[in-house]
Amino acid sequence: MKLQQLIIISILLFSTLLANKTFEANLECKECHPLIYKEHQGAMHNKSTIFKDPIHKAIWDKHPLNTKKQKYKCAKCHIPTANNLSDMLGKTTKGLPDANNTTHNEAISCAYCHRIESVKHGIMANKNIISSEKKEYFATMKKPLRNKFHYQAENKNFANGNVCMGCHSHKKNKQKFDVCVTSMSEPTDKDNCITCHMPKVKGSVSNKEDTPTHSYHGFPGTNSGHEMLAKYIDVKFIQNSDGFDISIYNQSPHLMLLHPLRFTQLHVSITNGNNINKFETKSFVRIIGKDKKSSPPWLANEIVKNTMIQAKETRIIKYKSSLKSGDKVKVTLGYFLVNPKILKKFSLENNEKAKKFNIMKEKVFEIK
Ligand code: HEC
Ligand code: HEC
Ligand code: HEC
Ligand code: HEC
Ligand code: HEC
Repeated sequence: MKLQQLIIISILLFSTLLANKTFEANLECKECHPLIYKEHQGAMHNKSTIFKDPIHKAIWDKHPLNTKKQKYKCAKCHIPTANNLSDMLGKTTKGLPDANNTTHNEAISCAYCHRIESVKHGIMANKNIISSEKKEYFATMKKPLRNKFHYQAENKNFANGNVCMGCHSHKKNKQKFDVCVTSMSEPTDKDNCITCHMPKVKGSVSNKEDTPTHSYHGFPGTNSGHEMLAKYIDVKFIQNSDGFDISIYNQSPHLMLLHPLRFTQLHVSITNGNNINKFETKSFVRIIGKDKKSSPPWLANEIVKNTMIQAKETRIIKYKSSLKSGDKVKVTLGYFLVNPKILKKFSLENNEKAKKFNIMKEKVFEIK
C-alpha cells in the first residue's frame, strides 16, 4: 500500500471515530410503541436538557465550563444525541446547547439507549459504545415480532442493568474526585437497576401484537414516580423501655439518596387528642466540598459529611419518650431535591420543585 493511500485511510478511519452518530427521533417510535412512548415523554430521560430541567440548568448556569469555556460537556450523558457532540466534548472546540436544534431536544432518546452495545470503563466516567447499525435495537425479548421499521437483537447488558452504567456508574471532576457514584456490586438478572426502575406493567409492547405487559419506561426516581419505589424502603417502629426506635431499611444497592444536591429528612411526632409532641428533625446528607466546607461540585475534593443511609443499610434512630396508650406516632421520611441551604447559591429559591418536601414513606403507629 502506498503511503498516500495509507494516510487517506487513516484520516477516514479517524474521522469516522470522531464523527457524530445520527439517531432516529423519538417520534418515529410513537406509531408502533404508543404506551412506551408516552411513558418516556414523562421520564427524566426525556427531560434531562437545560431546557426541560430547571435544576440541571441552574447548576449549568454557574458552571465554569459554561461561564469560561462555552463547552457543554454534560452532553455526554444529558443530550448524547447532539449532532455536534464531538465539538462539545473536543479539546479545542466550543459547543453550547441550542433550543432550536432538534437533536439537542431528544434528550436520552429511545434509539440512543437501544443502540448501546456495551459499556467501557473510564476513569472520569464510563463510556457507552454505540453500535453503528442505525436501525438495529437491542433489548431482551426472546422472539420479537419482526417489523418493517427496524431490526432487533438480544443483548445481555439489557437484562443485567449494565446498559445503565455508561452514564450512572460514576462521574469525577477535575480533582479526580467522585461527584456521584452508583454502584451495583453483584447484579443478577433478578435484582438490578432494571428490575427496580423498569418494572413490568400492564399494556402491550407494541400495537402490532398484544402482549400482557411491557417494561415501564417512566423511570421512577426522585423527580417523579417515587411512589413506585416506596416498597424498597422499609420503616419500622420498635417500642422499648425508655421510648422507641425507628428503623429504616434501604433495600436499594445505592445510597438513599444519590445525587449530592439531595437532602433527606425524617420527621417524627406523637399526637394524643389535641396534644402534639414533635421531635427534632433528623437530616441525612452527603455534602461534598473542600477544606471541610461545602463547595460547588466542580471544586470539591472531599466528602465533608456523609450521613446518607447506605446501600442495604438498616439505620436505627432512637427516641426517648414515655409512651401512653392511645399515642399515635407519625413517621414521615421524605426529601428535598435541592438542599435548602444551597437553594440561594444556585438561584433556585423561587423554584417550587427544588423547594418541595416530597414524602417517600409515611406511617402512623398506634400505642395499644
Ligand atoms: C412499524 C412499527 C414499529 C416502529 C415504527 C418501531 N417499532 Fe420497535 N418493535 C416493533 C415490533 C412489532 C416489535 C416486536 C414486539 C413484539 O414482539 O411484541 C418491536 C420491538 C422493539 C424492541 C424490542 C427488541 C428486543 O429484541 O427485545 C425495541 C428495543 C424496539 N422495538 C425499539 C424501537 C425504537 C427505539 C423505535 C423508534 C426509533 C421503534 N422501536 C419503532 C415495531 C416497531
Ligand atoms: C457521566 C455522565 C454525566 C455527566 C457527564 C453529567 N451528568 Fe449530570 N447526571 C447524570 C446522571 C446519571 C444523573 C442522575 C443521577 C441522580 O439523580 O442521582 C444526573 C443528574 C444531574 C443533576 C440533578 C438533576 C435533577 O433533576 O435534580 C444535575 C443538576 C446535573 N446532573 C448537572 C450536570 C451538569 C451541570 C453537568 C455538566 C457540567 C453534568 N451533570 C454532567 C450523569 C451525568
Ligand atoms: C445516556 C445516559 C444515561 C443512560 C444510558 C441511563 N441514564 Fe438514567 N439518567 C441519566 C441522566 C442524565 C439523568 C438525570 C436527568 C435529570 O435529572 O436532568 C438520569 C436520571 C435517571 C433516574 C432518576 C429519575 C428521577 O425521577 O429523578 C433514574 C431512576 C434513572 N436515570 C435510571 C436509569 C436506568 C435504570 C438506566 C438503565 C436502563 C438508565 N437510567 C440509563 C442518564 C442516563
Ligand atoms: C432494590 C431496588 C433498587 C435497585 C436494584 C436500584 N434502585 Fe435506584 N432507587 C431505588 C429507590 C428505592 C430509590 C429512591 C430512594 C433511594 O434513593 O434509595 C432509588 C433512586 C434512584 C435514583 C434517584 C436518586 C437521586 O438522588 O435522585 C437513581 C438515579 C437510581 N435510583 C438509579 C439506579 C441505578 C443506576 C441502579 C443500578 C445500579 C439502581 N438505581 C438500582 C431502588 C432501587
Ligand atoms: C434509558 C434507556 C432506555 C430508554 C431511553 C428507552 N429504553 Fe426501551 N428498554 C430499555 C431497557 C433496559 C429495556 C429492557 C427492559 C427489560 O428487559 O425489562 C427496554 C425495553 C424496550 C422494549 C422491549 C419490550 C419491553 O417492554 O421490554 C421496547 C419495545 C422498547 N424498550 C422501546 C423503547 C422506546 C420506543 C423508547 C422511547 C419512547 C425507549 N424504549 C426508551 C432501555 C431504554
